Amino acid sequence: MAAIKRCLQCKVNPAVMDMPRHRTRLCGDCYIDFVRAQVRTAIREYRMLRYDQRILVAVSGGKDSLALWDILLDMGYNVDGLYLGLGIGGYSSRSEQIVRDFAERRGVVLHVERMEEAYGFDIPATVQAAKKDRHTRSACGTCGLAKRYAFNQVALVGEYDIMATGHNLDDEASQLFGNVMRWQTDFLARQSPSLPASPGELAAKVKPLYRLTEKEMAAYCVIKGLNYVVEECPLVKGNTQMMYKEMLNAMEHEAPGAKAAFLFGYLDRVREPFFGDAAAQSAASTVPCQVCGMPTVLSGDRTEATCAFCRTRSKMLTVLNG
Ligand code: AMP
Ligand code: FES
Ligand code: ZN
Repeated sequence: MAAIKRCLQCKVNPAVMDMPRHRTRLCGDCYIDFVRAQVRTAIREYRMLRYDQRILVAVSGGKDSLALWDILLDMGYNVDGLYLGLGIGGYSSRSEQIVRDFAERRGVVLHVERMEEAYGFDIPATVQAAKKDRHTRSACGTCGLAKRYAFNQVALVGEYDIMATGHNLDDEASQLFGNVMRWQTDFLARQSPSLPASPGELAAKVKPLYRLTEKEMAAYCVIKGLNYVVEECPLVKGNTQMMYKEMLNAMEHEAPGAKAAFLFGYLDRVREPFFGDAAAQSAASTVPCQVCGMPTVLSGDRTEATCAFCRTRSKMLTVLNG
């Protein structure tokens, strides 16, 4: 009979997680401690959160953001949730139900916004618009823009101090990969687990899961018994971000730790020396959008003050109603 492999931390319980990147294997209890310790390190290194702040976490119903909400609540932070309904049929309704169930079970505040109600169009409508006019923004591009806009708006209206998202190590490394491949220096400058607020304007944003991989977050949910939406968004296929994730996973398979070395190396040794305090500067140079009043960043030689979301929304509604 094969010998049971014990947890290398407590040396008592059977190990349930093999972790080649950390050269260890852990039992369920020690694994939960490990995840919390990684989040604590992230919060400390970037001074992300304080116990006296009101935090809003954007929760999609997926493993990362639900786990993040769970972890921050367990740590005793004052954290409410925000779910944005994108109108993507059964995928959106199942996600919303899962988030609602979590909030009810934990007895915490959840804000629910629906794109169609708030802005007059939803994500499936952007697919229709793209068929009518190929110059409209893609569904995924519009979705990302709408999420950033809605998160910021709800955080500002609700007077939250910080906005937290469930972006994990895979999300951040693949984002970095894409930005490097295209040498998008403005995006590279702003790529950070923590972006400062500009008072009364853009809400501060943090990503406390940037040290943990997708797989590690899925394991956290399974061990904690958290129900999450397993299915991917049906529109994600062929997305370039997915392609970068697959490439990085292939590298990670050959050399465990490669993904973390790529991301942490950039954050620790490249970002500041090359880009200095660009994140703070970009947050500072915002002006109110002339349509919605939300802050918009003036970049390059742009002088108009209509935010990207209002421009996209106006184009979408014109194409859809035209
Ligand atoms: P994604 O853009 O899908 O990679 O998601 C990144 C993060 O954005 C998630 O971890 C969540 O924190 C947040 N998020 C994504 N979709 C939603 C949604 N529909 N409602 C609220 N938050 C979301
Ligand atoms: Fe945004 Fe699928 S979640 S397009
Ligand atoms: Zn606007």
